[in-house]
Amino acid sequence: MKKTFIYLSIMAIMASCSVAEKEKAPQTPVVAGETIQLQTPSKQGGASINEALWNRKSSREYANEPLTLEELSGVLWAASGVNRPDGHLTAPSALALYPIQTYAFLESGVYLYDAKNNTLERKVEGDYRHLATLQDFANTASLNIVYIADMLPYDSQSEMLLERQRILWGMDAAGYAENVNLYAAGHGLKSITRGGAKAEEILKLLQLNPLRYEFVLAQTVGK
Ligand SMILES: Cc1cc2nc3c(=O)[nH]c(=O)nc-3n(C[C@H](O)[C@H](O)[C@H](O)COP(=O)(O)O)c2cc1C
Repeated sequence: MKKTFIYLSIMAIMASCSVAEKEKAPQTPVVAGETIQLQTPSKQGGASINEALWNRKSSREYANEPLTLEELSGVLWAASGVNRPDGHLTAPSALALYPIQTYAFLESGVYLYDAKNNTLERKVEGDYRHLATLQDFANTASLNIVYIADMLPYDSQSEMLLERQRILWGMDAAGYAENVNLYAAGHGLKSITRGGAKAEEILKLLQLNPLRYEFVLAQTVGK
């Protein structure tokens, strides 16, 4: 009886601590502008890797509710943020060529993620989230990410590598996307990797020459 009481008391203290932790977590709104300065995610945040792996799944139902600055910062850093002094990223890249560019489609515009400066730079103002998908559920989700390959870094590579470039940058993008899926699963967010988007329209909107740039993968993250 006494043991049960002590056990329950400990559980109650632990539960109240985790609620207090959650209450303490800042919920900064994203202020839309030409540049969004992102935050540096802490080293301690989120669930354990094992919990995130247990929780990871594709979701196809989202609220039209923006991510907080903390969430947006964490998601983009997980995709392709700098995690070492040499400038390398959270995700690997074949031959460290880093051909993948990470675009964030938000209600306020389409932004290019600048990993070095940890900012989002607006390329087009307006809500174009619907271009980043072929499925209605993503039209109004908090964030659609689009991964676009810039072929230039492959220009001076060997013939053998050029033959495999699509596979290689596809795998780079899949790594970025899976980092995001695990980050989302570890931070109470929903996500899905998607192969479908209005690729031609996206390149046109962003004024990217299709001879140099190619749509690779899309992803939805939200609540
Ligand atoms: C490269 C890739 C592309 C995908 N494209 C789509 C897509 O366009 N639409 C979609 O609803 N799901 C897409 N998915 C998600 C898969 O359908 C999903 O991972 C699969 O059904 C297994 O379910 P789970 O992720 O919940 O384990 C894609 C997944 C991957 C890895």
